[in-house]
Amino acid sequence: MSSTLLSVSDVRIYYYTLTGIVRAVDGVSFQLREGEVLGIAGESGCGKSTLGYGLLGLIPPPGRIVRGSIVLDGIDIAKLKPAELRKIRWAKVSMVFQGAMNALNPVYTVGHQLAEPLVLHKGLSVKESLEVAAEMLKRVGLTPEVLKRYPHELSGGMKQRVMIAMALLLKPRLVIADEPTTALDVVIQAQIMNLFKEIRQVEKNAMIFITHDLSLIAEIADKTGVMYAGKMVEIGSSESVFGNPLHPYTQGLLRSIPRLRGKEKITWIPGVPPDLRMPPPGCRFHPRCPYAMDICRSEEPPEIEVEKGRTVSCWLYAKR
Ligand SMILES: Nc1ncnc2c1ncn2[C@@H]1O[C@H](COP(=O)(O)OP(=O)(O)OP(=O)(O)O)[C@@H](O)[C@H]1O
Ligand SMILES: [Mg+2]
Repeated sequence: MSSTLLSVSDVRIYYYTLTGIVRAVDGVSFQLREGEVLGIAGESGCGKSTLGYGLLGLIPPPGRIVRGSIVLDGIDIAKLKPAELRKIRWAKVSMVFQGAMNALNPVYTVGHQLAEPLVLHKGLSVKESLEVAAEMLKRVGLTPEVLKRYPHELSGGMKQRVMIAMALLLKPRLVIADEPTTALDVVIQAQIMNLFKEIRQVEKNAMIFITHDLSLIAEIADKTGVMYAGKMVEIGSSESVFGNPLHPYTQGLLRSIPRLRGKEKITWIPGVPPDLRMPPPGCRFHPRCPYAMDICRSEEPPEIEVEKGRTVSCWLYAKR
């Protein structure tokens, strides 16, 4: 069995805004092995992107990591200084940012933007860098001719492929993809999903695939984590989470996916996620939970390991 690549322990990431402290990630722990794919799902605003930024040591102000450790390949990212972080970012861990298609610089060619990290991190010449970049473009299904193009000359799907090439360029052990298909039409979305599947076969890097779309996670992830209001409420093998969802929130999310077959009705979870400046006491999901008990309203549920590698934070599963 492969070894542990990433170990996240009780990470808390807060945004210190003028109107209060937003507890965007509030005590998240999980582990990832070399080459493993973890899918993270959850409604908008539950802290998925913030967790991704944290793993890169790139929390935008007014945010910061206030507690916990993020150990990647033996190094605690939460403790590194900015200069040290710059060395490992892109080289050991990279990210395809949410809305990344618009993150390409409009005034430089694709070649310029792909060559830059290779010159800076690997000390390659511009010519060598362009050769590596051309190879990487082929890997993501584009022709080397794209090197000469400006971002506005590319379609949305092509831009997303360039961003994926950029994330893979320095061969990081961990790639984080944050909603990488959300802005694309369904045909291109399927192509990009196939590309990710191919990449994991070839590059063998670990991946964290963030999306609000559970059906995409079912396609690609070995493990599935479900976030709600800054907490990882359930995590386990995708087989176990999809086959036997334990947390009422996971159950609700899965029931809201349309199905082609079967008689099960589509339902939705009533209400909306809480304001993370003032999350409800006890279990943060209790105001929306059909099984809420007294204890759920006052005490935070512990993280319960129901089997090896499978945890759920819910009082329904606590032995009391
Ligand atoms: N720069 C910021 N300053 C203040 N609060 C922020 C900032 N970025 C995010 N937040 C808050 O942190 C919480 C988590 O946001 P985050 O973007 O991580 O959620 P998300 O799960 O990625 O949502 P989505 O599915 O919409 O992308 C939200 O309440 C959001 O308003
Ligand atoms: Mg997000």
